[in-house]
Amino acid sequence: MHLPEIGLGTWQNTDSETCAESVRTALDVGYRHIDTAQYYGNEEAVGEGIDAADVPRDEVFVGSKVHADKFGLSHDQVIEGLEVTLDRLGLDSLDLLYVHWPVGNYEAAETMPAFDELVDRGLIDHVGVCNFSTELLDEAMDHLDAPLFAHQVETHPLLPQDELVDHAQRHEYHHVAYSPLARGDVFDIPEVVEVAEKHDVSPSQVSLAWLLSKEAVSVIPKATSEEHVRDNFDALDLELSEEDIERIRAIDRTERYVERDGAPWLDA
Ligand SMILES: NC(=O)c1ccc[n+]([C@@H]2O[C@H](COP(=O)([O-])OP(=O)(O)OC[C@H]3O[C@@H](n4cnc5c(N)ncnc54)[C@H](OP(=O)(O)O)[C@@H]3O)[C@@H](O)[C@H]2O)c1
Repeated sequence: MHLPEIGLGTWQNTDSETCAESVRTALDVGYRHIDTAQYYGNEEAVGEGIDAADVPRDEVFVGSKVHADKFGLSHDQVIEGLEVTLDRLGLDSLDLLYVHWPVGNYEAAETMPAFDELVDRGLIDHVGVCNFSTELLDEAMDHLDAPLFAHQVETHPLLPQDELVDHAQRHEYHHVAYSPLARGDVFDIPEVVEVAEKHDVSPSQVSLAWLLSKEAVSVIPKATSEEHVRDNFDALDLELSEEDIERIRAIDRTERYVERDGAPWLDA
């Protein structure tokens, strides 16, 4: 199954009822990709939302992540972690499993072969990683038999990640933009707001359409209310001009919203 351009993010959507309802609403609105993680503590609720939606399981692309601080990232911990994830989601297999962060006991030579084993056993379709550098991406690919399918990393108008997007394009895997709304701050970026006013759409739609104008990039905005879920989905219908795209590309301020100890960019 291919990766849909837009997916629903679910980090911090931890109230079970609200989370299940956001997922169900998103699927009924037309989303076909849901992003969760062991770390978010909401896999059961995500599974309930998928079950409640009027969409067959084989039409929904479901991604989750194994985390060094939860089950760990040794070979056996990855296998055990995925089994728990499937149990919580109430699914037989996952479309995509990511390494959440390259920290703790992450070792490419040990962790990535466990992902290959899960592919061989039919428990996951695709392998992904999150929060990697180009060096760590190259190393992970060296230790994988399966092709790397996706790299998920913070990407938005204040953190365009040109080097990582270029790497994804050259190696033909998906660059999945997380925090694509700059965690809600796109509403305060004047260049984005001006382009939004010109098209009479929300700054959220402009940020998503700008990201989607790049080859290999897909987006996973988190939204809780039906209004936000629908607004973001409408970004698929927004076409920005070359001038709009350049106006946002030319922003020379940088902001990173998601940090943790051991992140590869802290060593750079
Ligand atoms: N792999 C990783 O390490 C990692 C790290 C961070 C995030 N992620 C993934 O990426 C997803 C998205 O990133 P994120 O949650 O950090 O931030 P985000 O998607 O950039 O922003 C989410 C914020 O924007 C608000 N919002 C959404 N749509 C809106 C709209 N149309 N109008 C106004 N406000 C709107 C949301 O409010 P409401 O909730 O009230 O709708 C929420 O406060 C996460 O949920 C998670 O699935 C992955």
